Amino acid sequence: MSDRENDERRPVLLTRPLAPEVEAFLRSHTDLQVPLEDRPLARSELLARVGGVAGVLAMLTDRIDEEVLEAAGPSLEVVADHAVGYDNVDLAACARRGIVVTNTPDVLTDATADLAWGLILAAARRIAEGDRLVRARGPWEWSPSFMLGREVTGKTLGIVGLGRIGQAVARRAAGFSMRILAHSRRPQPETEEALGVAPRELDALLAESDIVTVHVPLAGETRRMFGEREFLAMKPTAIFVNTSRGPVVDEAALAAALSSGEIAAAGLDVYEREPEVHPALLGLENVVLAPHLGSATVETRLAMGMLAARNLVAVLHGEPPPTPVGSAGE
Ligand code: DGY
Repeated sequence: MSDRENDERRPVLLTRPLAPEVEAFLRSHTDLQVPLEDRPLARSELLARVGGVAGVLAMLTDRIDEEVLEAAGPSLEVVADHAVGYDNVDLAACARRGIVVTNTPDVLTDATADLAWGLILAAARRIAEGDRLVRARGPWEWSPSFMLGREVTGKTLGIVGLGRIGQAVARRAAGFSMRILAHSRRPQPETEEALGVAPRELDALLAESDIVTVHVPLAGETRRMFGEREFLAMKPTAIFVNTSRGPVVDEAALAAALSSGEIAAAGLDVYEREPEVHPALLGLENVVLAPHLGSATVETRLAMGMLAARNLVAVLHGEPPPTPVGSAGE
């Protein structure tokens, strides 16, 4: 028996309970530790629990940095992130220690694109605002001018970030007979042609689009990519949607643009300092606020858990993981 096979049931920390199927799979290959309570581990708990493990299956709420890696010690071989966005993991620190980092691309593409569309429609057609009105039991009645929203069909959709999720958003737009523009970090002529998408520089996209939807990873160059200047560049009738990562948007600037009428409406699923939301946004009727639900379906969360678990076990068995970080697009 090789050293690897001897090592098969090595200690692994899953930082939060996941579906029974995922935990059973991990248990059959590793010596699994899972906290009993379904809540984020406090920093001190994470540091205490990680000591001596060979793998960590982490949530996006766990910051995996130098301090955590130091607390884990030399046994740590893999950080399997339960998310497509891996901005919670210090990749450079992991690389210095030879630790493999994996994420969960693809399996959440459709769920996240659906949610982006849900926000587009909810913001354009004032669905959440209408729901609040009905629940408040105040007087209302149908009238020709009552709660008019904006049509989506036939409009121009601007997709910022044409990775897998951005592409899935574009495919869904076909049902709305839209003109589609996209701004991407690198030219992708074949993908753009297949999707019927016209490439644009960011400023041109902002000026021409009726709906701007953001699908970029959080990185140095995308942090606060949307601020006062960008909202000013959009049409006063524009709808802005973000389902990527909160720090991509300056929330104070967005709230100011929404209240002054620089743009018409917005839909957000992610926030700069989750779970806090900028207080100025909370008071506005023309923004739909979802609590980070992009991948939150029964099917997708199971698929994410299984993929993260398979990544982790593959590394501990000395095999290439299915989705190491960097294997997928935005
Ligand atoms: C991700 O995977 O990055 C999503 O935000 C999780 O919901």
